[in-house]
Amino acid sequence: MKIGIIGFGSMGSMLMHKFLEAGTLLQEDLFISNRSKERLSEIPERYPKVNVMKNNEEVIKSSDIVFFCVKPTDMKEVAEATAGFFKEGQHICAVNACIRFNQLNTIFPNASCSIVIPSVTGEVDKSVTLATFNQFVPEREITLIKKLMGTFSSVVIIPENELGICTDLTSCMPGFIASIFSIIVEEALSRSTLSKEDIHNMIITTILGTSKLCVDQKMPFDKIVERVATKGGITEEGTKVIESAFPETVRTLFQRTKERRESTILNWPGHFNKKNE
Ligand SMILES: NC(=O)c1ccc[n+]([C@@H]2O[C@H](COP(=O)([O-])OP(=O)(O)OC[C@H]3O[C@@H](n4cnc5c(N)ncnc54)[C@H](OP(=O)(O)O)[C@@H]3O)[C@@H](O)[C@H]2O)c1
Repeated sequence: MKIGIIGFGSMGSMLMHKFLEAGTLLQEDLFISNRSKERLSEIPERYPKVNVMKNNEEVIKSSDIVFFCVKPTDMKEVAEATAGFFKEGQHICAVNACIRFNQLNTIFPNASCSIVIPSVTGEVDKSVTLATFNQFVPEREITLIKKLMGTFSSVVIIPENELGICTDLTSCMPGFIASIFSIIVEEALSRSTLSKEDIHNMIITTILGTSKLCVDQKMPFDKIVERVATKGGITEEGTKVIESAFPETVRTLFQRTKERRESTILNWPGHFNKKNE
């Protein structure tokens, strides 16, 4: 099976490294292109047999499955420019949550298409990859994509209309978590003589420990709150603040990401149906 990657940025390069590290693919079965050629220069030194292609057309002509790893705002232009090079039987995989099958179908009619959303935490082999498939994808291609992505992540198959919220919970979440904790670090810094590094390390160890409690002891979040926030204690005072003020932030966050996705989706041809969000 020959795999193409168009767009060698954060996601494209992660996919290449992960497919090769896990031995799921041979170097010679990977075909890669990128708009700026400088980004591709790191490939030959580490993986001399990976096929670095001159342009997207060459990638498409050589591959059975083509991963489009370009920004959501570039996807329409790249898809339209390359649609003519696809032949029957090839699989189009959009690594992009701001897209829907009815839009892909306007550019790639009757083609086998998937939307696959990895997460940057896949780099450390702890992530969820979301996947959804259109009606033209045969079972063997679903199995293959599950196998490819499953070597470094937990693959969760979702219906297309769950892409929005599930993306917030997985691929966006490292960014949300990091921004919450950066605020906590800064506030703690203003109230302490400790260094930023010390505060950062205390928090990181505690986050890792909390995750381990959830995983190793199958402890749900509300149980952890119950264990730590003893009645009348200090933690309880803090959790009361979170429970009263944070829900509004989360509501606004989900609303704003939804609106942003919709505005990107609406820039596409085809009839975006709000039910698909
Ligand atoms: N980053 C994440 O954590 C994450 C997680 C899940 C999904 N995603 C999705 O993955 C997709 C890629 O995101 P990213 O973070 O990898 O973006 P990125 O780092 O900006 O990479 C995008 C790459 O696409 C290349 N590109 C743009 N137009 C092209 C064209 N016409 N032909 C070939 N290559 C082209 C860019 O080339 P240049 O070098 O010329 O700019 C760049 O290297 C997005 O749809 C994003 O929503 C990202």
